[in-house]
Amino acid sequence: MLLQEKIKNKISATNDKLISFSAFMHMCLYDLDHGYYSSKKNQFGSQGDFFTAPLLGKIFSRSLTKQILDCFLELDKNIIEIGAGNGQFAKDLIVELTEQTLDLKNYYIQEKSLILREQQQIFLKNNLSKDQFDKVQWINDFPDNYNGVIIANELFDAIPTNVFETSNHKIYERCVAFEDNKFLWQTRPCVSKFDYQLTLPSTNIIFEYSDLYKELMESFSKTQKSIFFIIDYGMEERQLFHPQRLNGTFRGFVNNRLTSDVLANVGNQDITYHVNFTHLAFLSKQYDMNILGYTSQSHFFNNLGIDFIDHQSTQDHYQQLSEINVLTSPSEMGELVKVMAIANNNQMELKGFGDFDRTHLL
Ligand SMILES: C[S@@+](CC[C@H](N)C(=O)[O-])C[C@H]1O[C@@H](n2cnc3c(N)ncnc32)[C@H](O)[C@@H]1O
Repeated sequence: MLLQEKIKNKISATNDKLISFSAFMHMCLYDLDHGYYSSKKNQFGSQGDFFTAPLLGKIFSRSLTKQILDCFLELDKNIIEIGAGNGQFAKDLIVELTEQTLDLKNYYIQEKSLILREQQQIFLKNNLSKDQFDKVQWINDFPDNYNGVIIANELFDAIPTNVFETSNHKIYERCVAFEDNKFLWQTRPCVSKFDYQLTLPSTNIIFEYSDLYKELMESFSKTQKSIFFIIDYGMEERQLFHPQRLNGTFRGFVNNRLTSDVLANVGNQDITYHVNFTHLAFLSKQYDMNILGYTSQSHFFNNLGIDFIDHQSTQDHYQQLSEINVLTSPSEMGELVKVMAIANNNQMELKGFGDFDRTHLL
């Protein structure tokens, strides 16, 4: 059955002929047969639909390695990567750690998409030495008493979210209906409860809120001792709910082009939105964890120091300059992407947040 048909049937089976946007997004991205991340099409890079930082080159993983090495002064030498995409970051990080003579114990990957899991296995087997590959394990749940680092790059913005809108100070849920052979938005009174008191503007606004973040943060809080790096497009609530951003942040990507109609082209486009870091900060506190820092990707990498990797040619040099520009320029990923580090059962100062830490804004 085609994905459109499947979603349509799900909508027809409800009393009010509506499903939440979160249910819709979940089917579009992760339906086992036709979901965007479950289909075989290449989603990543120039041949796919979007670029993530690790796909630009090795500077991202090299810079992060510096911070991870500091964490390993206090934590066991384990890494969990959640949502590993095409496996490029895992490969670059493991190679970089080996070059830094670190004796990594385990590199765990938690990946929701079965097809991506298979692709990661093939890619890492072909691109790592046997010793390195033997350290990689795919997991469904965090190992018991986990002690180590956890990393998620562009994970939270791929986690299904609900969408809401305010009208005359009342909150409504924006749901998905099917009429005239197409999906469309329809509102219903808000039945969802938010985990905390959102600071909404007095003007009408459309905004996203995902109740699925809680599950992940809860499992993180059950680790024995760890530091969780969250790197994602997003911002703190004051900026996110700014009167100049009243139409929500959900958007689609196809062939490296932005699309605004997230209800169209089901299963063939990526759907994403800006992460509300204030929500993540609230959940950290709720589960008794410490925020070690929150800043822009640009400040994080500049604090750590960005090193050129030995290059063979002028072309290599320009390629690295271009990578640094995309990672740090305010009009590219530099300002829109944030880095947040949360610690469970430990407290350490991280160099990446040495200057321009914005935790107080959360
Ligand atoms: C936007 S991609 C980012 C991939 C990679 N981190 C990168 O930077 O290139 C999102 C990834 O998260 C995975 N994912 C989404 N939700 C997940 C979850 N709850 N647990 C594990 N993986 C998840 C997707 O299948 C995909 O691999």
